[in-house]
Amino acid sequence: MSDKKYTTIEEAISQGLEKVNLRGWVYRERKSNKFAFIVLRDESDIIQCVIAKAKSLEIFEKAQDLTIESSVKLSGVLKKDERAPTGYEVRVDDLEIVQIAEPFPITEHQSPELLYDNRHLWIRSRQLNAILKIRHTVVGAIHEFFRKHGYYEFDAPIFQPSMSEGGATLFQVKYFDDKVYLSQSWQLYAEAGIFSLGKIYNMGPTFRAEKSKTSRHLSEFWMAEMEAAWMRLDEITEVAKDEIRFIIKKVLECNKKELEILERDIQILEKYAEAKYPTIKYAEALEILNKKYNMDVPWGKDLRTIEEAKIAEYFQVPVVVTHYPTEIMGFYKPPSEDNPKEALCFDMLAPEGYCEIVGGSERSLLVDNMMKRLEAEGEDPHTYDWYFDLRRYGSVPHSGYGVGVERVIMWICGIDNIKDAIPFPRTMLRKAP
Ligand code: 4AD
Ligand code: MG
Repeated sequence: MSDKKYTTIEEAISQGLEKVNLRGWVYRERKSNKFAFIVLRDESDIIQCVIAKAKSLEIFEKAQDLTIESSVKLSGVLKKDERAPTGYEVRVDDLEIVQIAEPFPITEHQSPELLYDNRHLWIRSRQLNAILKIRHTVVGAIHEFFRKHGYYEFDAPIFQPSMSEGGATLFQVKYFDDKVYLSQSWQLYAEAGIFSLGKIYNMGPTFRAEKSKTSRHLSEFWMAEMEAAWMRLDEITEVAKDEIRFIIKKVLECNKKELEILERDIQILEKYAEAKYPTIKYAEALEILNKKYNMDVPWGKDLRTIEEAKIAEYFQVPVVVTHYPTEIMGFYKPPSEDNPKEALCFDMLAPEGYCEIVGGSERSLLVDNMMKRLEAEGEDPHTYDWYFDLRRYGSVPHSGYGVGVERVIMWICGIDNIKDAIPFPRTMLRKAP
């Protein structure tokens, strides 16, 4: 069969081929006295294939051995057929078995834990296939967005000598006879990079020892960050809004089929792709919570997930919340000059319960203030001497933010657990396969 030209299922259908040569895996199979039905799966789609005993006894008998996930090559005639699951059918006239699969450990109605134990096999599922294709679009869109707008890609080390987002979630790694930490953020190094390259971005693995077992936290995730010299808070919030709309537009352009497989509401995504996203202050967010939702959130408290969800529900589109209380923010988020109790920072909250998808801020230029705050967090400020140098040699206002890539994928796909937004999730309770 080696001289045959193979296509994917999707190519065969879109090219309107009559004679097709396909290869893939048995997604479903059913046998009767006269026919063997295989639903064949490849990277592009699924298609029903019919093997008639009356046509070839030899092929019909070969097909009797096929099990779920067996790998095959087959040839036949492609026909439109309303009754078939995807509207087409292949009448098979040649079949080559590549491997007969052992009984597949995943059958219908499995517990989520079994699916995560068998993640290496479960990524073949139609649902994961669709999510991974959307992930591919999201990642590509982020690179495209920043490159189109003149940002340079800039890499930071993954092994870092100190924290940026709080010591409590650091992963410590043995480093020869010393120790280092896995990156919690690209940001501090990006703040060095802007003095060379101006506007920069990156997408990279990010590590947080999150003790929370929520459906929105991974211990290893991908963050897409930007940092820009001269930019202020009101500018980066607009960049973030444009970026998110751009990502959604790209997914709508490239992944309608996958969104349908996931039964995602496409109209709502179309709304997110076009809508204006409001910007409000933390203080206004509290007013909405306390007046419209009868909650009782005092000034100074960080917003919890349920509060973030209400704010986004109120607006029905992503909303940017700025000026959180300085006290509860990271050491590098600067106090506002008008009201030092408020920090020049923001989060973007996604609707439908997805909450924080982006976090960012202007960067403090006040070395003494940052040193004090680091000390208060139990850090040795001298570990950050190189970082403070950036304030000593041509300091300029600058700002940046980070997008949680899996948070965005999760929201776009409309799935309820962040673990399904990444091929092999890592959480407090899951480190294998
Ligand atoms: O809000 P965070 O912690 O911000 C930073 O790390 C900044 N240094 C970014 C910057 O300004 N360059 O994280 C940014 C985003 C969050 O909004 C969230 O979407 C995502 O990263 N994120 C997580 N996603 C999955 N699992 C986790 N444990 C996450 N922690 C943060
Ligand atoms: Mg945050």
